[in-house]
Amino acid sequence: MKKKLVISTGAGISAESGISTFRDAGGLWEKYPVMDVCSADGFERNPALVHQFYNDRRKQLLEAKPNAAHYGLVDLEKDYDVYVITQNVDDLHERAGQQNVLHLHGELMKVRSLTHPERVYQLKPEACATTPDTRDQYGDPVRPHIVFFQEAVPNFEPATELVAEADIFVVIGTSLNVYPAAALINYVRPGTPIYYIDPNPARVPAGVTVIAEPATRGVATLARLLSQPIEG
Ligand code: APR
Repeated sequence: MKKKLVISTGAGISAESGISTFRDAGGLWEKYPVMDVCSADGFERNPALVHQFYNDRRKQLLEAKPNAAHYGLVDLEKDYDVYVITQNVDDLHERAGQQNVLHLHGELMKVRSLTHPERVYQLKPEACATTPDTRDQYGDPVRPHIVFFQEAVPNFEPATELVAEADIFVVIGTSLNVYPAAALINYVRPGTPIYYIDPNPARVPAGVTVIAEPATRGVATLARLLSQPIEG
């Protein structure tokens, strides 16, 4: 029976694919007023600006490819039952071939109907190069399938259940600034080994193994540490 390896990722794992993080120097929140482009009020005030912001991010995503960190997590599926919980809205984990990916903050390549939220649409890459499609085939307005600030995080509960069942918990490339995602670390069972990969790590509880490296190197280090027999 393979051990359950649960991994929580943030923008840092996609940084080496050329996708901007949010709070690093030059990050997205330095360039855009976050509450204008990533909040429920902002969308209400100016939906066209929000559609344009997400279309610009889709264009950047279409140029990007998964990096060695994404592929390294896929490789771990050989030896572990791997579940990725990501704050990222990019699809790089999926494009790398990861089997189990749970998005906490939504998905950039999807939009949904404002009037029938159960109608979720997968955008085709070519659809993102032009002006954003703001209505679906029924003529209803659509919105990005993104969890805006001020909105609930519907996948948080299933995420806590995954973390509570983890034999090993890993956090990669997140500043642990945003809740409830940052609280996932508190849901591990006592005694569960925790690893945190980040070149500029945020403060974490004692006992967490910090790998202060960029994700592409840090995931390789993690794989080596996991393959070493644990001293009895
Ligand atoms: N490898 C690993 N980590 C990296 C790398 C790298 N090459 N480069 C930067 N990082 C780390 C930074 O040190 C930082 O800790 O990635 C983290 C990025 O932090 P944020 O920009 O705050 O991104 P994140 O934690 O994912 O933000 C959480 O905030 O704006 C909201 O919804 C948005 O999902 C996002 C949430």
